[in-house]
Amino acid sequence: MSYLLGLDIGTSGAKAILCDGEGRVVTSATAGYPLSQPQPLWSEQDPSDWWAGAKQALRAVVTMAGVPAGQIAGLGLTGQMHGAVFLDAQDQIVRPAMLWNDQRTAEECAQITELVGAERLVAITGNPALTGFQAPKILWLRRNEPDAYARVARVLLPKDYIRLLLTGDYATDASDAAGTLLLDLRARDYSDELLSALEIPRAWLPQVYEGPQITGGLLPAVAQGLGLTAGLPVVAGGGDNAAAAVGTGVVRAGLVSSSIGTSGVLFAHSDRPALDPQGRLHGFCHSVPGQYHLMAVTLSAGGAFQWLRNTLRAIAPSLSYDELTALAEATPPGAGGLLFTPYLTGERTPHLDPLARAAFVGLTARHGLGHMARAVMEGVVFSLRDGLEIMKGLGVPVDEIRATGGGAKSQLWLQLQADIYGAEVATMAAEEGPAYGAALLAGVGTGVFANVAEAVARCVRVSSVTAPNSANAETYAEAYAAHRKVYPALRGI
Ligand code: XUL
Repeated sequence: MSYLLGLDIGTSGAKAILCDGEGRVVTSATAGYPLSQPQPLWSEQDPSDWWAGAKQALRAVVTMAGVPAGQIAGLGLTGQMHGAVFLDAQDQIVRPAMLWNDQRTAEECAQITELVGAERLVAITGNPALTGFQAPKILWLRRNEPDAYARVARVLLPKDYIRLLLTGDYATDASDAAGTLLLDLRARDYSDELLSALEIPRAWLPQVYEGPQITGGLLPAVAQGLGLTAGLPVVAGGGDNAAAAVGTGVVRAGLVSSSIGTSGVLFAHSDRPALDPQGRLHGFCHSVPGQYHLMAVTLSAGGAFQWLRNTLRAIAPSLSYDELTALAEATPPGAGGLLFTPYLTGERTPHLDPLARAAFVGLTARHGLGHMARAVMEGVVFSLRDGLEIMKGLGVPVDEIRATGGGAKSQLWLQLQADIYGAEVATMAAEEGPAYGAALLAGVGTGVFANVAEAVARCVRVSSVTAPNSANAETYAEAYAAHRKVYPALRGI
């Protein structure tokens, strides 16, 4: 029997899983690390924390599983997208990594748009310049921290920094590389036109591979520390959303995944380089070779619910997510007319506005905590529905929606998605998120599966389907119509 490892460098922690060659998860482990927001709009992490978490999670799954190291065929990597890890010529970290939800680069985005041209940028990369993406972070460093910039010899994405420590290779995959804003979407390689316009040396960037391709083998000293075999093949993997899509089988047209983690993501597979000419949806490569996807991103999804819980913990220190969810569940659909826009860290889809702000709208004296908790959850799903409407408007086929992330683990989140999308929402048997997809990609790269389609056919199963409750349809239609009016009304304020 062959076993496969997947490692996800997430925003709240590192997660490792070990599954067998039929995709059955044997063990999984997570190791958390902090997020730092040292200034308004900034969001940073210390890459050394990722490395400590990665080793802890990997060691734990290998030890708990107790399978002979020789039977583990490969390791797949995935992680939060868009972050910038700046390294010097000795691969030392130059400054804390700037993350996907960091919003400090509005001026650099304007500069990139000016230098390249708005239409040309979307035509090459599939996307406009957005504050979270990697390229504007490089320009920010050049302008704001010239001493640090002068030391830079490499810029890596989060999971690819961990790859460097695991195998010694500078490599990435096409799905994650697409989130740098430096990739030519069709060529699946960096665009020389963009690199030269932005004066970014190609030598700083890792080589781009397809998701299942092997990029290197585990270094002997690292392997020894983890209880693994030296030279264990490590595959390119994917950005967290693309890898999660492999894990939920979203690898053909018509399938869409709905993920509620820190961020919320609707992800639609596409056989062709797919673009939203207005740039409201991200057009990226898939981690399936030669394939693409469109993605709508709500920056604070589970993150908004976490914010509410953490805020309340100041006075109720033991308040759990389950308790808050129970209060929301006991509140009728529509939250008594209370609305919440979840733009706590600005917003991508549909507003593309780093300065968008969250709001409770319509508070009355009869609203209580349950209404607020429910309004936050409903507001997150309304925001995701904004993305679904754009997809439908662009003619993207939406035959089946598959829930993943924290939003697939709670019946209330599932029912809200079904009711507000007005569609059935499926959950998958193996609900291990991006790490699971990364393990399947490792299986493809090491010959356990012939290709991604075979991996999905053998391993990925629907386990439940939640149907929309027609009794709630009118309430949500009205509430969604009201939600659409909130951002335009508040923007000026
Ligand atoms: C996608 C995005 C987030 C991060 C967080 O564009 O920014 O989903 O990948 O994990």
